[in-house]
Amino acid sequence: MNEKMKKRILFVDDEPMVLNGLQRTLRKMRREWEMMFTSSGKEALEILDANLMDVIVTDLKMPEMDGIQLLTEIKKCHPHVVRIILSGHVKHDMTLQSLQIAHQSLAKPCDAEILKQTLAKLFALKDILSDDSIKKIISQIESLPSMPAIYTQIIEEMQSEDPSIKKVAEIIARDVSMTAKILQVVNSVFFGLSRKISSTQQAVMLLGLETIKSLVLSVKIFAEFSRKKFSWFNIDELFNHSMSVSCYTQAIVKNEKMDRDLISPSLMAGLLHDLGKLILATNFQKPYRQVLTEAHDSGHNLWDLEYETFGTSHAEIGAYLMGLWNLENPIIEAIAFHHCPAKSMARNMGLLTAVHVGDALDREEHQAANQEPELQFDIEYLDNLRVADRIPEWRQVCRELYERNAA
Ligand SMILES: [Fe+2]
Ligand SMILES: [Fe+2]
Repeated sequence: MNEKMKKRILFVDDEPMVLNGLQRTLRKMRREWEMMFTSSGKEALEILDANLMDVIVTDLKMPEMDGIQLLTEIKKCHPHVVRIILSGHVKHDMTLQSLQIAHQSLAKPCDAEILKQTLAKLFALKDILSDDSIKKIISQIESLPSMPAIYTQIIEEMQSEDPSIKKVAEIIARDVSMTAKILQVVNSVFFGLSRKISSTQQAVMLLGLETIKSLVLSVKIFAEFSRKKFSWFNIDELFNHSMSVSCYTQAIVKNEKMDRDLISPSLMAGLLHDLGKLILATNFQKPYRQVLTEAHDSGHNLWDLEYETFGTSHAEIGAYLMGLWNLENPIIEAIAFHHCPAKSMARNMGLLTAVHVGDALDREEHQAANQEPELQFDIEYLDNLRVADRIPEWRQVCRELYERNAA
């Protein structure tokens, strides 16, 4: 492999045994990765100042400068380096703090295979989305947001030996504004529940942990958006659109009798498919505002105008962040290609198809009456999958949902 194309990874751990172990197990990767190893945070920063690195994998508990201090510094001075924690037994509060500063964390001792897979997945994603335009845009973003702590707490609980609905409900209930928003969404017509839900515990029980997990992540991301600072951006419209797409995506997955395992990711993918718009709005205020105005006035595709201005679109940007947060690959793929599914490697009906169709149908629903109706689907892609003739049925299914919600 060309030296320039090699990924550069820096490992930091104060225990020589751990470093040696890593060095030994990852030796096979030398052709693809350029790896550096150091035993102190201070040295790690010196290495980063002198070398371009893609990823840092660090221990938490180290003398002098610990992992949190190190990653905080890196987030500030080298925001584009992907931050991974590889830690042993750490106190709970330290884990929580670390989750806000790292893109991912792995438990030590970490199976070399898992580390390899995690890194390989991160790099594959970077490759899918790494044409220079997105790199350029991402590099202008001051610091990519870390995964919300409340979401990681829920995941931790779900991955524990004996996950408890009560504990997950308690985690959510600690955040008052989150609770209010979750109850509002759960009680909205979208979920079609016959009785009013008044507590997080009821909500978790009725909707299940997977659904609640997706809702918490999306609600948190939307809640962190500052309405005051970006009053020109219609966040409520985007949230409603995302909710609709999420419902339509799920309806299509069920209607087509796709794998049942896709039902839960379809909620997440629908809710987050346009998340890149929030990143563009908050980081590129002036040009993005112009792009939105132009799209609105001209009726041109928003993403075409985004490509013209930024060389990439909200789809790739959102997918990039979700990749860093280690969401499942089908979700990342669905977000990355939701406007242009033909660009993906996927050749079967799947989550991407459902999100693409759900998004197209909702945009069709909201087309201004005075504009020429424009076909929102990638017909060639649907034709290749031999499902283009199913559009009228999907339209019907989603319209029924829409009318029920609007009633
Ligand atoms: Fe979109
Ligand atoms: Fe959309």
